[in-house]
Amino acid sequence: MRVGVAKEIKPQEYRVALTPAGARELVQRGHDVVVEAGAGAGSQFRDADYAATGARIATVDEVWETSDLLLKVKEPIASEYPRLREGLTLFTYLHIAADEPLTRALAESGIAAVAYETVETDDRRLPLLAPMSEVAGRLAPQAGAHYLERPRGGRGLLLGGVAGVAPGKVVVIGGGIVGYNAAVIAIGLGAQVTILERSVDRMRHLEEVLHGRVSLLMSSTLQIESSVADADLVIGAVLIPGALAPKLLTRGMVTGMKDGSVFCDVAIDQGGCAETSHATTHDDPVYEVDGVTHYCVANMPGAVPITSTKALTNVTLPYVEAIADHGLATAVALDPVLARGVNVIDGRITYRAVAEAHGLEYTPLEDVLRPSTV
Ligand SMILES: NC(=O)c1ccc[n+]([C@@H]2O[C@H](COP(=O)([O-])OP(=O)(O)OC[C@H]3O[C@@H](n4cnc5c(N)ncnc54)[C@H](O)[C@@H]3O)[C@@H](O)[C@H]2O)c1
Repeated sequence: MRVGVAKEIKPQEYRVALTPAGARELVQRGHDVVVEAGAGAGSQFRDADYAATGARIATVDEVWETSDLLLKVKEPIASEYPRLREGLTLFTYLHIAADEPLTRALAESGIAAVAYETVETDDRRLPLLAPMSEVAGRLAPQAGAHYLERPRGGRGLLLGGVAGVAPGKVVVIGGGIVGYNAAVIAIGLGAQVTILERSVDRMRHLEEVLHGRVSLLMSSTLQIESSVADADLVIGAVLIPGALAPKLLTRGMVTGMKDGSVFCDVAIDQGGCAETSHATTHDDPVYEVDGVTHYCVANMPGAVPITSTKALTNVTLPYVEAIADHGLATAVALDPVLARGVNVIDGRITYRAVAEAHGLEYTPLEDVLRPSTV
């Protein structure tokens, strides 16, 4: 199969969908890999690094027009819509439940669109989203520590303290992938860490893996109110699958926080978990409400593209190999986890939530795909 790698053209996107290591694996399996010139530059991979693996460097037109399978990181933007076509399988983050123009463009083009974010295991894990949660979680205390510094508008407190001086207090709301990773780094910085979680089973697990190094408390309105009032850094890391983040921090709770403290709302991509949250960008990451610095960057992993690219491609590569080796129809027939990733194919919407979001007709994947059709 010819596997293409397109350069990301969305502003502020520096990741690439395949590393030279991944290209090498595909070439070794007998696939023809074409990489758009400069595609890896934002993640510090040179064209020569790809060429050395046996991949070919090509123009944007050649990559889009001749590939069977096209790998990207972000959804196509409007200027790329004319490039969508029948016979092409696109594998990327799509998030089309919130994007009607793109949903229609995909359906009208006849392309097969497989979304990283809806590849889902039987126990409801999202393996192609998890690495970005790990990255965002690990970044959060780093960002928080930075904005706690006085010249950045913070209280002027070192999270780790020093001998004879108490460390700073970090409260993490939500102990999932983001929350666990945030706690690990905050502990590493020497902070005193509390995780507020709602699931007792999850807390038992965290107790086992972080034994003695964090306080684990049941999340309730009362507990959140008293914990955040005492915190130097609060990290929002909750998720209710398929829903907007719950507004756990009221304006009043934010007002009750210490002057110069920091609130890092990682859950901002689901609307944020405070009444005072609104999304920011890496160009202008923070704003202040009642003396509390809010860091609400919706695309935190974008700040560290080398790490994010490698973490993402580690998890996507097995699926890329399956599609390249077997063709999409057989690959999804063999693997229901991958099948859940197919959002649009042959002009049909095969992901129920996307169809419902736009009032379009839903067609089950098995009604569209038979192993001989792709
Ligand atoms: N801003 C970014 O760049 C970025 C990057 C990656 C992930 N995220 C977001 O971070 C959030 C967390 O993602 P995740 O992968 O850790 O999800 P996850 O499902 O692994 O964890 C969420 C946790 O929140 C807990 N929870 C739910 N309601 C709660 C409540 N009321 N109080 C306390 N805990 C509660 C759940 O029990 C679960 O353990 C999501 O909104 C995700 O989209 C943002």
